[in-house]
Amino acid sequence: MENDNATIILAPLQGFTDVTYRNVFSDHFSGVDEAVAPFISTMGQMRLKPTRIKDVAPENNKKLFVIPQILGNVAKDFIFLADHLYEMGHKKINWNLGCPHSKIAKKKRGSGLLMYPEEIDIFLDTVLSKISNTLSVKIRLGRKSKEEIFSLLPVLDKYPLDEIILHPRTGIQMYEGTSDHDAFAQALLNSHHRFTYNGDITDTASFHTVQKKFPNIRRFMIGRGILANPCLAEEIKKIIVDEKKIWRLKNFHDDLFTSYEKLFPGPAHLTGRMKGFWAYLGPTFKNSRKPLKNILKTTSVARYRDMVDLFFQTEPEIIK
Ligand SMILES: Cc1cc2nc3c(=O)[nH]c(=O)nc-3n(C[C@H](O)[C@H](O)[C@H](O)COP(=O)(O)O)c2cc1C
Repeated sequence: MENDNATIILAPLQGFTDVTYRNVFSDHFSGVDEAVAPFISTMGQMRLKPTRIKDVAPENNKKLFVIPQILGNVAKDFIFLADHLYEMGHKKINWNLGCPHSKIAKKKRGSGLLMYPEEIDIFLDTVLSKISNTLSVKIRLGRKSKEEIFSLLPVLDKYPLDEIILHPRTGIQMYEGTSDHDAFAQALLNSHHRFTYNGDITDTASFHTVQKKFPNIRRFMIGRGILANPCLAEEIKKIIVDEKKIWRLKNFHDDLFTSYEKLFPGPAHLTGRMKGFWAYLGPTFKNSRKPLKNILKTTSVARYRDMVDLFFQTEPEIIK
């Protein structure tokens, strides 16, 4: 099957795929066509959080097309933020209806709203008549049960959405178990909207499985799979790069480190952020357990750099 016409979208990963990551990623790797930015929460009282707005400012996002994502359930606050994003140049925005964290969900935000399709109906009715941006939604199968989606889809069908990005797990599942392909297939049968598939694409084999199961799907969102293997989109699209992968990963790491070094106020911030990446990147290498542990337990920047240099000097083998 041809992968040339597959669109690959970098998933929003709060704490990872911010503008710095997206730009450094784009300097080193290709194959990703667009990104949904990590969510911006609505704030109320016509307030905006400058750092979150900066993350999606078009002038900072010239390398990879980005769609801002909003988390919130108050229509007037959503409209205020959507209008601001439109004035900045964002013709497309995304609504987060998937965040699984209970702190958020219990306030009927993210996946917490999925159990209330009538509230989603009122929200969309109000918001879509007021905003100039087009809207897509990122959803899960439900908050508690995968049956919830069957009450939601007829509501979504009433509105002109760009697409539905579906991660086929429930909210309470968090990231446990596997993505439910049968439930994804059922959702496709019960909606008029275009869908993007999202969930557990970690290598070319899992991409091909999804592509074979859903031949009409052209858009694939990948998150953790790209953190673990930044070359994944290239591998899916069969983009050949001559340089050895291990050195590409090292150069990418070093640039990311330098970029965050300029940004973060203190060493704990910097090493904390970089160690977050290692938790995903580390298992990509064979026999990485011990050296990875050494990286993850560093507290000073100097020690972190030493441990990372040591790691790459051994030219660890990459698990295919
Ligand atoms: C650390 C982390 C942060 C995330 N942040 C967001 C977010 O800001 N907005 C969102 O819609 N989903 C978020 N997600 C969910 C991902 O976008 C994606 O739906 C999920 O990871 C499944 O895709 P994957 O298996 O390709 O990673 C996050 C997931 C993780 C693990």
